[in-house]
Amino acid sequence: MSNVNRQLILHTRPQGLLAPGDLQLAEAPLPSLTDGQALARVKYLSIDPTMRIWMAMDSYLPAVAIGEVMRAFGFAEVIESRHKNFKKGDKVVGLTGLQDYTVVDASDKRGGFQKVPPIPFLSDTAFLGVLGINGLTAYFGMTEIGKPQKGETLVVSAAAGATGSIAGQIGKIHGCCVVGIAGGLEKCKWLTEELGFDAAIDYKQSDWKSKFAAATPKGIDIDFENVGGDIMHTVLERMNLHGRVVLCGLISGYTKDDPALASFGMVLVKRLRVEGFIIIDYMDRYMEAATQLGKWKMFGKMKDRETIVEGLEKAPEAINMLFTGGNIGKLIVKV
Ligand SMILES: NC(=O)c1ccc[n+]([C@@H]2O[C@H](COP(=O)([O-])OP(=O)(O)OC[C@H]3O[C@@H](n4cnc5c(N)ncnc54)[C@H](OP(=O)(O)O)[C@@H]3O)[C@@H](O)[C@H]2O)c1
Repeated sequence: MSNVNRQLILHTRPQGLLAPGDLQLAEAPLPSLTDGQALARVKYLSIDPTMRIWMAMDSYLPAVAIGEVMRAFGFAEVIESRHKNFKKGDKVVGLTGLQDYTVVDASDKRGGFQKVPPIPFLSDTAFLGVLGINGLTAYFGMTEIGKPQKGETLVVSAAAGATGSIAGQIGKIHGCCVVGIAGGLEKCKWLTEELGFDAAIDYKQSDWKSKFAAATPKGIDIDFENVGGDIMHTVLERMNLHGRVVLCGLISGYTKDDPALASFGMVLVKRLRVEGFIIIDYMDRYMEAATQLGKWKMFGKMKDRETIVEGLEKAPEAINMLFTGGNIGKLIVKV
């Protein structure tokens, strides 16, 4: 065990994509534990679009303060413990931060860390993706808001990403016709050839809107919206009356000053039900979602994929990959 804890500290609030130096690598001594605390070695970091929001402004959580360790979800292993619920060797998920070591604290008011059960067919990283925030977001967004019915048309944007790929597969499991929107041929092929989407539209092609219209001949009943902006506007124009919009994310606006919310006039005209949600509201139902997702995965009904970047110091570049489309499936940094 090293006695140095490398940490990525928020130095400047980014403008657009992260610039070199917005997050700065620093070294701190390993924290010494008091009663009610455990020390865990961070193994994997979940790279999430919301991190860009946390760097910039107060939202559903306060912005990360300048000079603080950058907030991030991660997977860690307990190496020393003075906490009655955690012992050496326990694997945990929670807000580890972008650093080598994290303190698991009994007095943590945010719900703290959850212990991860050892399940033979699941990799550690699955607890950051399909059985982590992304799986839960897709699961509750689809089942609580999308409420997919057999024969309906579901459209998912950022469909080859961590959340979208699972949302689309949940739509297939419920008998929907599922159309994904994603950037590039490789992503689109993965969606149709491996995940069973009925169609995948590459929005980087100039004729994507006509292809999208052809792929949704009966209109759209559910929009699982991850992107916002022009993509969302194009989807909303094809919504059927009383369709449901699962407003999951608006990633196209996260690196801009002007958030991508321009399309909401259509919500009124088409009497759509749009419901925003934040996954932290569903955390007490973690086991329900994880059990269902785990079963689907075990029986081959749910596939997942990961893009793994090696090295804590690469985390800033990894965050930018989310906004340039550099990931397929769940984006993870191996510390
Ligand atoms: N509500 C919640 O609680 C909650 C929880 C988790 C995630 N989310 C939201 O879900 C969405 C997906 O998050 P994720 O973690 O699963 O990330 P992800 O989809 O794995 O990665 C982001 C993807 O978004 C696409 N993208 C980025 N900028 C774009 C743009 N300007 N136009 C079109 N596509 C763009 C890129 O794919 P392409 O190559 O296809 O462009 C990129 O790979 C985000 O909006 C996120 O904020 C919400």
